[in-house]
Amino acid sequence: MADALRWGIVGTGMIAGVFAKGLEQAKRGVKAAVASRGADRAKAFAEKNGIPSAYGSYEELFAAADISAVYVATPHPCHREVVLAAAAAGKHILCEKPMGVTPAECREMIAAAAKADVTLLEAFMYRVHPQTELIRTVIRDGRIGQVKLIRSSFCYGLGDAYNVRLDKALRGGGLYDVGCYCINFSRMVAGEEPDDIAAVWTLGEKTGVDESLACGLRFPSGILAHFDVSVRSANSTFAEIQGTEGSLFVPSPWNPHPERADIELRRKGQAPLTLTTVAGGRAFPLEADHLAAVVQDGATPLIPAANAVGNAVVLDTIWQRMHGPQ
Ligand SMILES: NC(=O)c1ccc[n+]([C@@H]2O[C@H](COP(=O)([O-])OP(=O)(O)OC[C@H]3O[C@@H](n4cnc5c(N)ncnc54)[C@H](OP(=O)(O)O)[C@@H]3O)[C@@H](O)[C@H]2O)c1
Repeated sequence: MADALRWGIVGTGMIAGVFAKGLEQAKRGVKAAVASRGADRAKAFAEKNGIPSAYGSYEELFAAADISAVYVATPHPCHREVVLAAAAAGKHILCEKPMGVTPAECREMIAAAAKADVTLLEAFMYRVHPQTELIRTVIRDGRIGQVKLIRSSFCYGLGDAYNVRLDKALRGGGLYDVGCYCINFSRMVAGEEPDDIAAVWTLGEKTGVDESLACGLRFPSGILAHFDVSVRSANSTFAEIQGTEGSLFVPSPWNPHPERADIELRRKGQAPLTLTTVAGGRAFPLEADHLAAVVQDGATPLIPAANAVGNAVVLDTIWQRMHGPQ
């Protein structure tokens, strides 16, 4: 097996810390450096997370010859610039979701990665958990018949302190933060792109962003998907796929249990059947190891970067309706 990838982390926020911790369990990656827009933050993050090198600018990290892959953990609208610079420097890239805020941004990032001959993956961690593969297999095997409806939800509650998720200038709101999961899931299950998009939302009085949103997607085959998100409610996460012969209920689609995850198959006239996957670890190290497998073994990406374009079409369409042409 090739040497472990040497990771550089871009940004020092919440998820950067979770990824740094996760890398400790990766089989094919090590945390080698972190970069921040502020040298003090980089140093503090490196000390806290046992990272050998700290850079006071993203550019310095990209220039570091010993770094092979970068994890982009900046707010969504900042991904484009970081990804373009990382690709130009020849780094492989795991970019947090949503990869770009518009389809054009995603296409530009994908083209830059292709030109530089580096791997670019969008970090939808639920896609690397084996539960998601089980869901796909159950559907592919026709165990719920023909898919008709896809329902999903991702709701939680933020406090009043400043959070990039509530910042309109950074495309804050539930749609981009967590709606992107429901859109990704619906498109994955339907296996096609929606031809109609409907949405209603409630904008926060102070924040001006969608604090709650409900959305409907129609797919060319006739499959309908609907989902709701909120950043101002108690927690709710689930997905359910309704077919002609039964349904599949997924209690924890976005952050499945790292050891043992259950989904429930409910077939017409039969007792519900619990199907279990054993993940063998947390999603972040699995994501890092998946990128290593793509880069070093030529493995097929579970979710190719081009998939981000379809998600961005839905996200940007609804954003433009909420806020007018940007
Ligand atoms: N996969 C998951 O489960 C998951 C979970 C949460 C978030 N995410 C995604 O990860 C990304 C980051 O989210 P987060 O919760 O970690 O955000 P966060 O805590 O606010 O951290 C973002 C970091 O990005 C850097 N940054 C660069 N430009 C910035 C700007 N203009 N404004 C603010 N920060 C800026 C900052 O680091 P420096 O100042 O040190 O450079 C900051 O610490 C988002 O795209 C989000 O959707 C994914």
